[in-house]
Amino acid sequence: MDKLKYALIGAGGNAEKKHIHGYKELHDIEVVAICDVDIDKASAMAARHNVPNVYSDYKEMIQAERPDIVSVVTPNFLHAEITEYALSHGVNVHCEKPLSLHAEEARHIVEARNRSGKQVMIGLNNRFTNEAIYLKKWIDDGNLGHIYSAKAGWVRRSGIPGRGTWFTDKARAGGGVLIDLGAHYIDLALYFMGMPKVSYAAGRIYQNFMQTGTRNRHGYTGIENGIFDVEDAAHGYIALENGASLALDFSWAANIEEERFYVELMGTKGGATLINGTLNLFGEHNGICLDMKPKLKINPFLQLTGEFRHFVDCIKDEKQNLIAPAEHGLYFAEVVDAFYESAETGLPVVLNAGSTEKSIGNEANAFNAGGNV
Ligand SMILES: NC(=O)c1ccc[n+]([C@@H]2O[C@H](COP(=O)([O-])OP(=O)(O)OC[C@H]3O[C@@H](n4cnc5c(N)ncnc54)[C@H](O)[C@@H]3O)[C@@H](O)[C@H]2O)c1
Repeated sequence: MDKLKYALIGAGGNAEKKHIHGYKELHDIEVVAICDVDIDKASAMAARHNVPNVYSDYKEMIQAERPDIVSVVTPNFLHAEITEYALSHGVNVHCEKPLSLHAEEARHIVEARNRSGKQVMIGLNNRFTNEAIYLKKWIDDGNLGHIYSAKAGWVRRSGIPGRGTWFTDKARAGGGVLIDLGAHYIDLALYFMGMPKVSYAAGRIYQNFMQTGTRNRHGYTGIENGIFDVEDAAHGYIALENGASLALDFSWAANIEEERFYVELMGTKGGATLINGTLNLFGEHNGICLDMKPKLKINPFLQLTGEFRHFVDCIKDEKQNLIAPAEHGLYFAEVVDAFYESAETGLPVVLNAGSTEKSIGNEANAFNAGGNV
């Protein structure tokens, strides 16, 4: 079979660390072009990775190259616009998280995806780690029982991703740490919980470090006098219609000992923690409490390519269950919209019964990491 043509939109940090490497490794993918409004960035990345064509306009690139797949790795506010344009030109889209700034945009993406007959996958790489794949299967096999309580967080001591850049500009990012790091770890907790309908969100957001020049994430530079109108911390609570609760704990900057990213799940039959990448399982047998630690075999190739291989396989075989489809981005956007509204009004925000349109369901995780777990 011919190789599928792949093109990259947005040649910044994440594209370099993740997308270009992942797709380049796949035997059935041909990387045909890179686009960035900053053509020098596109050219430099293309030179580093032997990619033949560069563009500064994504519409021109899509029309000229007719790719089968594009990655959208631009600032958040462009995700919806570019994804819809690509879909309308018959292109499958691997869009970085968050899928959109708001639920309304995500709804339009789902509609555009349905019209196009193509696929949209969100770049939720934390769902593709060996630990997450193993834990999802462990949960789907019933080992935790009903997950009645969970905690999700990503707290950094000095982790502002460029003070004054697009990341701290609400119009371009959609929000601060909640939408940035929450897109990974709120998502992961709700994914493990089976994405139940949300009853209400109650939260507070804070801006304690916006004037502080010392809390940029290592390796990220800021822009002097750039906009900083988003939160650097978000703490709150999500109540779920199945009776479960989810506590949220997020900061780009805080006076804490060290960075921690985690999901803790408490179920009627068992529990699990995934803390800084380490998975532990808890249970009981014959009246004795048990601690379990899966010995996961790490396959470096699959660690690098799992997310990308999965998307290409789902494009080639539509019967496969996509792990991170656009609907999950809509679900997350509804939670985020409600959380920010709660922070603004000071009151819990009840989601309409029809709002989280359906419980996304606890669909079997079709992804198999090729026996590496
Ligand atoms: N999955 C992850 O772990 C992860 C990690 C980091 C970032 N991200 C996401 O990836 C996206 C990009 O983040 P980043 O850190 O790479 O940002 P970045 O600022 O380093 O890169 C964004 C790039 O997009 C380019 N760009 C802007 N407008 C464009 C347009 N109209 N057409 C083409 N290119 C355009 C910019 O010039 C820049 O090179 C964000 O949505 C972010 O949330 C995800």
